Amino acid sequence: MTSLQEQLTQIFSQALVAALGSEFAETDPLVVPASNPKFGDYQCNVALPLAKKLKQKPREIAQQILEKVDVAGICLPPEIAGPGFINLAIAPEYLQAQLQALQNDPRLGVRPTPNPQRIIVDFSSPNIAKEMHVGHLRSTIIGDSIARILEFQGHDVLRLNHVGDWGTQFGMLIAYLREVHPEALTTADALDLGDLVSFYRQAKKRFDDDAEFKEISRQEVVNLQAGAEDSRRAWQLLCEQSRREFQKIYDRLNITLTERGESFYNPLLPSIVEELEEQGLLEEDAGAKCVFLEGFTNKAGDPLPLIVQKSDGGYNYATTDLASLRYRIEKDEAQRIIYVTDAGQANHFTQVFQVAKRAGWLPEAVEAVHVPFGLVLGEDGKKISTRAGDSIRLRDLLDEAVTQARSDLETRLQEEEREETEAFKANVAKTVGLSAVKYADLSQNRVSNYIFSYEKMLSLKGNTAPYLLYAYARVQSISREGNIDFEALDADAQIILAEDAELVLGKHILQLGEVLAEVERELLPNRLCQYLFELAQKYSSFYENCPVLKSEEPTRSSRLLLCDITARTLKLGLSLLGISVLERM
Ligand code: ARG
Repeated sequence: MTSLQEQLTQIFSQALVAALGSEFAETDPLVVPASNPKFGDYQCNVALPLAKKLKQKPREIAQQILEKVDVAGICLPPEIAGPGFINLAIAPEYLQAQLQALQNDPRLGVRPTPNPQRIIVDFSSPNIAKEMHVGHLRSTIIGDSIARILEFQGHDVLRLNHVGDWGTQFGMLIAYLREVHPEALTTADALDLGDLVSFYRQAKKRFDDDAEFKEISRQEVVNLQAGAEDSRRAWQLLCEQSRREFQKIYDRLNITLTERGESFYNPLLPSIVEELEEQGLLEEDAGAKCVFLEGFTNKAGDPLPLIVQKSDGGYNYATTDLASLRYRIEKDEAQRIIYVTDAGQANHFTQVFQVAKRAGWLPEAVEAVHVPFGLVLGEDGKKISTRAGDSIRLRDLLDEAVTQARSDLETRLQEEEREETEAFKANVAKTVGLSAVKYADLSQNRVSNYIFSYEKMLSLKGNTAPYLLYAYARVQSISREGNIDFEALDADAQIILAEDAELVLGKHILQLGEVLAEVERELLPNRLCQYLFELAQKYSSFYENCPVLKSEEPTRSSRLLLCDITARTLKLGLSLLGISVLERM
């Protein structure tokens, strides 16, 4: 279905031309959601800006437009209000017919995009030998949800894990392990990842303090890059070990990714530098090869460089991103490339995109976008950390969410005097705990920092995963209570929107398509969260005001259908956030 707003825009466009002449064919009729639900659902504002041009009163213009507008079947008769707004209220019969059509539609009325694109979402992307941290958790959760929504809209999405599996860290680590744990370089799993991370820290310290060690590390990098067999083998072992640890997190969160790490682009790096040179974009600055940027200056006002080859001949993060951007456009044929990382990398991406454009690697037709997000803060308002001040391990963070969800559940069961099996409890705790973490992250505008609070995210009240899961489970409880099989509801039963609460709920359900189209454009999953939260609230007020099982036919069947469509909308929406529902909780 094209959205209602689009449909009305078309109708008013035609009416403008019919009323005022063909020179208004390109004029946007300014059909927008009503500023206040008292005035209806939409309003057409075009008469006001036209008044000056036409030297007429806006109300008169509105009247002329209205004479040519035919919205019968969609809206109640439109009314002119105030200085010259045209107010539009959707007709209940129209809503009823639209909702009726959702009954047998698993996509709930959302049509796949007419312009499917090849889209790359670059997300998660942790670094080998370093632990995945909360920043990577945000990237993983946000990136996955964006990918799910784009896939649902009908795009061809490649989910890429741009793992940091190359670079000086390996030189350090290999050099250090050769000294203290040589067996780790030849035997798989000689160390566990926790050790690997602490070895990396120690190696880094040595590297910073000890000039001789620094030199040995450099040599290790050179060996590795030259393909020396034992260095390669050591590198592979380290990567495999990290990869297995990352995979545990992805499995737990039900996230799929294709790994294509930085090392993949290594063979392409020299040609990046060569071509920049050929194009006359390259300059030397203190021995480093770089491109001077437009719009980035130092304090003295001189342009800043983007270094693509260091004075020691090594390449860096930016060189790799130039190579990967190019590869993704030329080989993967991506039309839109989305990078999900912390906001701290915004300059990096602006610079890389600028250089790629100037080099002709990033054509106009391809959109490269950085999707930044803010920090995760502890309840003290500072960057989240353990009591000892170390960064929190993701595994521990997820474990804690599940543990607390479990203890909330036990309390609730006691209060309600319910007995449940161990399997039930474990499953509810796991689903609620992990969903709560995901939802707490997704429901914030991603650009802002947010405070990580188990208590808030696990609360059954407010804009939280448990609240939405509970709303879903409550609808399902109606089917149990009334012995009703939602899937076998009478397909001929009519949906009747008589009460206010029914109308409000019905209208909201029909906005799913508009909301998803917006997330597809703006890449802000919090809009979908807000939509689902409001859906649950509107359902709740419907449920309070409109008895379902106790009402007479045909109202009873109509309300059961509304319950079912609400539940299916919640389930679909949550699945696009990477959250699965519980039939009972
Ligand atoms: N590994 C990087 C980090 O941990 C993120 C990589 C993001 N993707 C990219 N193409 N640069 O911050």
